Amino acid sequence: MSAFVVLGAQWGDEGKGKMTDYLAEEAEVIVRFQGGNNAGHTVEVGEKQYKLHLIPSGILHDNKLNIIGNGVVVDPKALFTEIDYLEAEGVKVTPSKLIISDRAHVIMPYHKVLDKLKEKARGKNDIGTTGKGIGPCYTDKFERSGIRVCDLIDEEVFKEKLKENIEFKNKYIVNVLGGEALNYDEILKEYLKLAERLRPYVQDTSVRLYDEIKQDKNILFEGAQGMLLDIDYGTYPYVTSSNTTACGVASGSGIGPTMITNAVGIAKAYTTRVGKGPFPTELDNEIGEWIREKGHEYGVTTGRSRRCGWFDAVVVKYAARTNGLTSIAFMLLDVLTGFEEIQVCTAYKCGDEILENFPASLEQLAKCEPVYETMPGWTEDITKVEKYEDLPENAKKYITRIEELIGVNVDLVSVGPNRAQTIIRKNVFDK
Ligand code: GDP
Ligand code: IMO
Ligand code: MG
Repeated sequence: MSAFVVLGAQWGDEGKGKMTDYLAEEAEVIVRFQGGNNAGHTVEVGEKQYKLHLIPSGILHDNKLNIIGNGVVVDPKALFTEIDYLEAEGVKVTPSKLIISDRAHVIMPYHKVLDKLKEKARGKNDIGTTGKGIGPCYTDKFERSGIRVCDLIDEEVFKEKLKENIEFKNKYIVNVLGGEALNYDEILKEYLKLAERLRPYVQDTSVRLYDEIKQDKNILFEGAQGMLLDIDYGTYPYVTSSNTTACGVASGSGIGPTMITNAVGIAKAYTTRVGKGPFPTELDNEIGEWIREKGHEYGVTTGRSRRCGWFDAVVVKYAARTNGLTSIAFMLLDVLTGFEEIQVCTAYKCGDEILENFPASLEQLAKCEPVYETMPGWTEDITKVEKYEDLPENAKKYITRIEELIGVNVDLVSVGPNRAQTIIRKNVFDK
């Protein structure tokens, strides 16, 4: 048995979806444990491209069990839009392939309204959220007024909880944020209908997961977002509202932390960020533009263009420490083909001080300059390379240097978006 975590080691969009889909071949169960449909994962299989948001990327395989764990926030409307989309693409999404935790919190219409109104109220200090209601839903969870999936499918409980929430939220929306009141009856009618469709998928997923583990199955936990969007360790407040790091796996799926066997950090060969917040190695110039165009760095969920920059080893080293990474999957290496020289940030220079570790204070971070090391680039097309040995010498030197800086082996290298464009150096399930 392996209980294996796939995590974003940067600011999200590292290629977690592609890697989850690839590694799902060897797993029987694929689990989302945090976040919601703020995530956007593009997965290419053969000629087809799939866009996933809330449903685990294991869904593209037949006969795998996919779990939406209790730590996820579930927008039922978004869920069924995604199920309908997948079914239209020929991917079956039945309750035998997908189950949803009865303890997961439900994203309600007022969460989406609040997300947008609060962003507007923040003015120039907005976070740049995806507007999917993620933050307000987690706020209610921790404030203890949230509606869980088990509440939604119990008509009497739902009616009561919805009433309380609508009354309270409308006061806040209208009187404080200047928005429009939401209608209880309309939402009730719509969500009771959604609840009926949701019911067959709902289970105590912690019990099911434990059973699967006892049967020695390989379990793959699919992270959403990334290290520096983690609510505790990220560039707060420019973060998402969940623990994106490995510590979120246990609380977000209902297993004990001792059951997690390994963690693979997904890192791009460069860095991107979408939304606001600090980004030390950002290239607001033609090099950044070049990476954006070559890497098609535009968001899957919001369509926003992603900010691009050089690889930041301080960030990925931070991810290695806080996640206990056992492997790195090095993604989008093909995008760097053609650069004469590649820069790697090895530390930050902050006044007279050299920082090796990512600071908590954004004010301090703002005063930091990246310390760069220059590596020679390569020009050969690597998108068809299947064996590590066949990569250009300079690409291998780049990877070796990254391994030295991070202290974790690069066991997988991705040279294109397709499932087939993956170089495996070591079976990560064997570790
Ligand atoms: P996720 O949110 O971490 O799953 O990542 P996204 O799917 O949002 O963004 C990664 C993008 O890179 C997607 O468009 C993928 O199809 C693409 N991609 C993944 N791996 C590679 C790769 O090795 N090379 C190239 N060129 N594209 C890749
Ligand atoms: P995947 O799984 C990149 C960012 C948003 C914003 C911040 C807070 O595709 O890697 P939220 O809506 O979560 O409250 O927004 O987090 N963000 C992501 N950035 N990839 C994601 O997911 C993200 N999910 C949220 O842009 O800056
Ligand atoms: Mg993404």
